[in-house]
Amino acid sequence: MSFMDKTKFKIEYQNLSALEFSGEVEIDPDVFDFAIGDPDIFTDPRITKYAMEKALEGDTHYGTPSGKKELKERIVKFHNERLGQNINEMNVQVTSSATHAMFLVLKALLNHGDEVICFAPYFANYTSQVLLNGGVPVIVHTHYSDGFEIMENELRAKISDKTKAIIFNNPCNPTGRLYSEETIAMLARVAKEKDLIVICDDIYTTFVYGDREFRSISSYPGMFSRCIQVRSFSKDTIMTGWRIGYIVADRELVNLTKIINENVVYAPSVICQNAAIRALDLFDDISMQVQALYSKRLNKVYECIKKSRYFDCLPISGTFYVFMNIEKTGMEATEFCEFALKEAKVKMFAGNLFGGNEYNHFVRLAINMDVEKIEEAFARLEALPYPGEAK
Ligand SMILES: Cc1ncc(COP(=O)(O)O)c(C=O)c1O
Repeated sequence: MSFMDKTKFKIEYQNLSALEFSGEVEIDPDVFDFAIGDPDIFTDPRITKYAMEKALEGDTHYGTPSGKKELKERIVKFHNERLGQNINEMNVQVTSSATHAMFLVLKALLNHGDEVICFAPYFANYTSQVLLNGGVPVIVHTHYSDGFEIMENELRAKISDKTKAIIFNNPCNPTGRLYSEETIAMLARVAKEKDLIVICDDIYTTFVYGDREFRSISSYPGMFSRCIQVRSFSKDTIMTGWRIGYIVADRELVNLTKIINENVVYAPSVICQNAAIRALDLFDDISMQVQALYSKRLNKVYECIKKSRYFDCLPISGTFYVFMNIEKTGMEATEFCEFALKEAKVKMFAGNLFGGNEYNHFVRLAINMDVEKIEEAFARLEALPYPGEAK
């Protein structure tokens, strides 16, 4: 018997692998790794200790499918007090990560052939997850020359009578940009006019720099009822390995995600949910430290890029990524990444992985190393012989 024959109809799924983005790739200690979007610092020991103590006390059983009551209560408090929302526990579904949250949301929402708008460059799992759930990803490109803001005419041109939802990630992985207030207001206006759902991927709220603060599109006037908020502890409180996220949305939609989840993982890990409970207590403390650390790192990267003869980028206003323009090197992104890894031991992801050939002159860097290392990595990159003409 051949499994390939038996599963032929699923072969299309083989192209959906996002393994390159996981921590399970070979780690060479001599490589300056800007590839993986996983902070190099440890989860705050107070969080780990609390989760371990709870486990030692016996909190190691199945949880409830929508999440631990105590965690949902904290999430409700967090959203009502800090984001000015008015939710209760029926609006919350705890999930095993934002990736899992997005999957449950799409599974609950999409009928075969429903279209979902994704802004490119995008977090690569979006299009895969839409496809896996029978939907059709419809790409609206954003451009370096527009500061990677969303152009209203380009968005409107892609909306059809099959469009059901828009996935909106702010600040954005991979561009490292917090969208302007005008862009968010425009998106809200269009969503209301066209009666579209907005799935807000709000997982980098700690990572906002400069004089603006994070404000979810779900907090814009009239938007709460059409938004599905996806959140995660992975980045905001440095807990990528714990795999805890959550959904905040309309209670009927949440009830549906709960039923789906019961049939997928039954319930998120209670051990990790205890960690998330402690993380919410410590949220301000952790996010202040993390924000200060990454602000320093990103300033250094920006300085290195602006000094470079070959690279350029837009100001970094959010996340911990930089979408670096490499056009002056005269190389395309994949070739550039292979060359930089081989000759300078600097690892990055090619821009085209985040939305196709439009981004062939970009690479994504995740700035998960200290300033000395950043300087060293850029010194190595700058010293390479590129075929293009320097600035
Ligand atoms: C935009 C975006 N959404 C979702 C995720 C997934 O987060 P989680 O670790 O909670 O699955 C990531 C991870 O890099 C991301 O960048």
